[in-house]
Amino acid sequence: MNDQEYLLIRAAFKQKIERTPVWVMRQAGRYLSEYRAVREKAGNFLDLCQNPELAAEVSIQPFELIGVDAVIMFSDILTPLMGMGMDLEFNPGPVFNNPIRTLSDINALTIVDPDEGTPYVGEILRILSSELSGKAPIIGFAGAPFTLASYLIEGQSSKLFSKTKALFWENKDLARLLMDKLTQMTINYLNYQIENGAQMVQLFDTWAGIFSAEEYQEHIFPYIQEIFSSIHQAGKVPKVYYINGSHHLLDTIADCGADVISLDWTNDIGEVKAKIGHKVALQGNLDPNVLFCNLSIIKEKVVNILDKFGPDSGHIFNLGHGIDKNVDPDHLRFMVKTVKEQSKRS
Ligand code: CP3
Repeated sequence: MNDQEYLLIRAAFKQKIERTPVWVMRQAGRYLSEYRAVREKAGNFLDLCQNPELAAEVSIQPFELIGVDAVIMFSDILTPLMGMGMDLEFNPGPVFNNPIRTLSDINALTIVDPDEGTPYVGEILRILSSELSGKAPIIGFAGAPFTLASYLIEGQSSKLFSKTKALFWENKDLARLLMDKLTQMTINYLNYQIENGAQMVQLFDTWAGIFSAEEYQEHIFPYIQEIFSSIHQAGKVPKVYYINGSHHLLDTIADCGADVISLDWTNDIGEVKAKIGHKVALQGNLDPNVLFCNLSIIKEKVVNILDKFGPDSGHIFNLGHGIDKNVDPDHLRFMVKTVKEQSKRS
């Protein structure tokens, strides 16, 4: 199938659609017993990321088992940092045994050709392209520089991000140097994914909402603009930008160069559409916790989002953040079916 014919790609570019496309962040994951079985076969999570055949297999699972409209390649936002020299473990959350806090730490980070740093990613995408052969579009992704920097500086997941904020406030030169390096890596990495078969790319800036709008504009926004303006295939491969907690940043990020802004559930998608919908398409934004409710509540909440967006093109249905590992796959299947049935255009 021609890329432009996929529902997902047409919705991202606000072209004519028959219904709203749907996929789910973290759709290949632990809530599926089929995923857990393959992960066990691979060893651990990082082994699975670096095993192209098995990573391609779990990427396709939600397309076949749940019925989503797209396949996101299986990897993690942190894996390319291993290619830069970082010592990464998952336990079960990510841990860097050599966190980045000084100039010499930053200087030690190397920018290598993605084919050298993450050869398995190119291979996963090539396998997906050949196995899917036009049945579903392939989504590539990367972590955005600030979100990557927060894990590098903290050395693990964090609630307060105190070390990260201190570095950005106290030592702007160091922060800039780190952001520049991560930006360069990310541009190379996303272009490499597109060359190897990614048909849409999403930049995950999960933690960018922890800064005020003013600080976001100073510390993060220029790098996002640089990344989106450096991605090849503009107008062909849609670019998506996701932040968890973005309501105070919407006016700014509408101009970041992305085709699609992916919203967390605290935003009212109808209000956001009225505000920035003339500039970008929107993705989202069901609260992931809704999937723990009974089917009638799931239906009510899905229909509410579809109604708020209305019949125009320019909406990709998704959760407002990743799916939880304890969700019943039948509930997700029902959510996907409901989006498909309730969003049909005449
Ligand atoms: O969406 C997909 O299905 C593709 C795969 C994907 C994963 N992580 C697989 C994964 C994607 C796109 C991500 C993105 C990611 N990873 C983000 C940005 C989006 C978000 O959710 O905020 C972040 C911040 C990470 C970092 C990360 N990876 C954390 C904090 C954890 C631990 C979380 C936990 O619940 O334990 C991971 C691990 C991870 N990444 C898992 C999966 C399927 C679970 C690991 C396992 O199978 O044991």
